Amino acid sequence: MTEHLTIVTHPLVQHKLSIMRDKNTSTASFRRLLHEISQLLAYEITRELDMTTKTIETPMETMDAPILEGKKLALISILRAGNGLLDGVLELIPAARVGFVGLYRDEETLEPVQYYFKVPENLEDRLVIAVDPMLATGNSSAAAIDLLKQAGAKNIRFMCLLAAPEGVARMKEAHPDVPIVTASLDRCLNDKGYILPGLGDAGDRMFGTK
Ligand code: URA
Repeated sequence: MTEHLTIVTHPLVQHKLSIMRDKNTSTASFRRLLHEISQLLAYEITRELDMTTKTIETPMETMDAPILEGKKLALISILRAGNGLLDGVLELIPAARVGFVGLYRDEETLEPVQYYFKVPENLEDRLVIAVDPMLATGNSSAAAIDLLKQAGAKNIRFMCLLAAPEGVARMKEAHPDVPIVTASLDRCLNDKGYILPGLGDAGDRMFGTK
């Protein structure tokens, strides 16, 4: 991917996102819509995967059929809200390897604190797609990408549902080589680091917590 930021303006994505933003949308609907949007974002983020060909026999004749090249890609969920994007993407790319990065945001400093890190082997040979619904300050996303690079990842893309300009700028400064795919670039952050207009706390809304 060449663009640093890709906003997926497809009408289905935008319609589903508007329902998710509505504070009256139920936990069950929110989760289902996130699952659906994750697949549409996955379609976009995997648009330029490297391809090769394999010779196969159709019932009619021999052909050189296009297939994905290289090692199975790695999907990395940034806990806990990243899990809301994971299953949908895995349905499209069932052979993907999966990893988890556990970071929580210190509510005072808004800085990320690591509590879990488990990723597939040979990250350096894989396309790595890190998923987290909300790119807010960008601090935890940038920290997660730091950890993935320390573990060897060289080819990373970042998928989120909503991005704030502050988070995009932070990622561009820290990781200009990591393309971001999102459903929306929202207006700004509030003084607590929440995205406006946003949709509230994505983890709470998908898991029904407060
Ligand atoms: N995380 C969320 O879940 N929501 C925001 O608005 C910002 C960070």
